[in-house]
Order: sequence, then C-alpha cells, then structure tokens
Amino acid sequence: MLGLYRPAAVQAALTPAADRTTGVRQWEPTAAESKAVEVIRRNPSSLFEAMKWSPDPWQREYLGTTGQRTLLLCCRRAGKSVTSAARTLAHCLTHRDALAMVFPPTLRQSMEYVRHVRLFDRAAGQPVKVERSAGTILEWANGSRLMALPDRQQGVVGFTPTKIVIDEASRVSDVLYLSLRPMLALGRAELELLSTPFGKRGFFFDIVNTPARASRFRQWQVPAARCPRISREFLAEEMVELGERWYRQEYDLAFNDSVDSVFTASVIEAAMQRTAIGPLFDLGA
Ligand SMILES: Nc1ncnc2c1ncn2[C@@H]1O[C@H](COP(=O)(O)OP(=O)(O)OP(=O)(O)O)[C@@H](O)[C@H]1O
Ligand SMILES: [Mg+2]
Repeated sequence: MLGLYRPAAVQAALTPAADRTTGVRQWEPTAAESKAVEVIRRNPSSLFEAMKWSPDPWQREYLGTTGQRTLLLCCRRAGKSVTSAARTLAHCLTHRDALAMVFPPTLRQSMEYVRHVRLFDRAAGQPVKVERSAGTILEWANGSRLMALPDRQQGVVGFTPTKIVIDEASRVSDVLYLSLRPMLALGRAELELLSTPFGKRGFFFDIVNTPARASRFRQWQVPAARCPRISREFLAEEMVELGERWYRQEYDLAFNDSVDSVFTASVIEAAMQRTAIGPLFDLGA
C-alpha cells in the first residue's frame, strides 16, 4: 500500500525534539550533565573506558582529534566503525544543535553504526537526555542529532551538518561523495572518511593516492599487524584461506587492481604519459 505524503510529519521528523515542543530551545544542562559532558570533552576515550575497553594508541589519538578532515585507512576489524561511533557521540554530546550525518554503504550498516553510538551512550550513563531514538535517528536534549543514511544521493540535499562520516568509504559510490561535498561549503562541518581498501577505484582510493588531496586529511593507517585483537595465528590462516592478493587488501592496506579490469592501473597510467615511442600508424591531422 502506498504511504501518504505528509509534509508535516516529514518536517517533524527533521526538527529537533526540543524545537518541536517549545519552538525555542530551552535546554540548560544540570550541573551533573555539564560535569559528565565536560569529562567526555576533555577525554573522549572515556567513552571506550565506559565500555571496559582500553583504546589502542591510534584510537585514543583519533578520539582526541578535533580536526576538520580525518581519514582512517585500516584493516578489517581494526575498530574503525566503533571508534568513529564514539567520536560522533562525543561530537553530539559536547555541542549544541550538532547534526552528524553518517553514510555507510547500506541501511543495515547504518543501523549497526547507530547501535554502537547507543551502546557508548548507555555505557556512559546517557550524560544528555535522549529525546528520540528511532531506527537510524537519535536526538538529544541539547538539540544534537545523528542521522545514519544508506548510500543514496537522493534526500541528502538541504541539510547543514556539523559532521559527515563516510564509513566503508571505498565501497560508497562516488556520486554520493560528490553530492555531500557542497555541505562542507559553509566551513562548519567535519569530514571523516574510514575504510579498508577495495581496489584501485573510487574517491577514497584517489584521495589516499593523490598527495595534494591526501594532505588535506589527518590520516591514520592501521594494518592488522598493529591490531592487538587479531592474532598472528589467525592471520596465517587467513593468508591460506584468502590467498595473498585478497589478504593484502583486507589486512595489509593494499589497493589491488580490480579483478574485472582489462588493464592494470599502472598500464593505464603509463598510456597517459608522453613517451619516446610514437604511434605505429599515422593518425592523421
Ligand atoms: N579498543 C578495543 N577494545 C576492545 N574491543 C575493541 C576495541 N576496538 C574495537 N573492538 C572490538 O572490535 C569489534 C570490531 O570493531 P568495528 O566493527 O569497529 O571494526 P571495523 O574496523 O569497522 O570492522 P569492518 O572492517 O568489518 O567494518 C567491535 O565490535 C569491538 O568489539
Ligand atoms: Mg566497520
């Protein structure tokens, strides 16, 4: 059955709860709320500690970074998504009216990302009251919101986020990235890209491999050898099961040529270079 188009309901879904009820934001933190938020502001790793996790050195550093452009190039299972989820939560709790928009490739991954945010929030004792928690949307009493959306460029225009996260960036479409970029125009939004490599293609590969573009991001690279939760024995088994090519992609941060490409990236690149060898045929004027 077709659902009715109800602009009022859509507007309500996009308006922070505090505004819906009063029209004016009236959130004033209690002393206890202020104190709890201050702890997270000063030490975002406390969110990990609330989960009884000890952050890896790169996780601690990443959580404490407030830069505008950050990029995580990590092996599978390194903890990219959970670290980003904790950083996004810290952003939402320590700012008023923040809007964090998260774009994993699929809806299922969006739900998983928001689940991690909820888990950190609960572990930290929900320092700011949660006003709304529905599917892939979270809203807090300080007016901050989190929206996790799947990879579709429709419906992303018109928002003014304070933070954009692209999870599994090597598997997200270029057209989504291109649609999101103008949201950075007002200079208020942080951009966070996280991924394991997935072939020599797409915007994530291009950014990592173009020094002028990469230099705009603060980068962390974490191969499996630096992840204390992945054992050497398991990696040896994976080398056998996955084969060297796939293993290097998943655990050693290697961008491989796509298996379905006719020419390797280096052959295509060489074809673009001027060389001493001219064409065999006269190509005419
Ligand atoms: N510092 C830590 N201490 C304990 N457990 C951790 C830590 N960091 C991550 N983990 C565990 O690792 C699991 C995997 O984390 P996460 O899903 O973020 O990895 P990922 O790099 O996004 O993986 P994938 O490549 O599959 O997307 C988490 O569910 C969590 O249980
Ligand atoms: Mg992940």
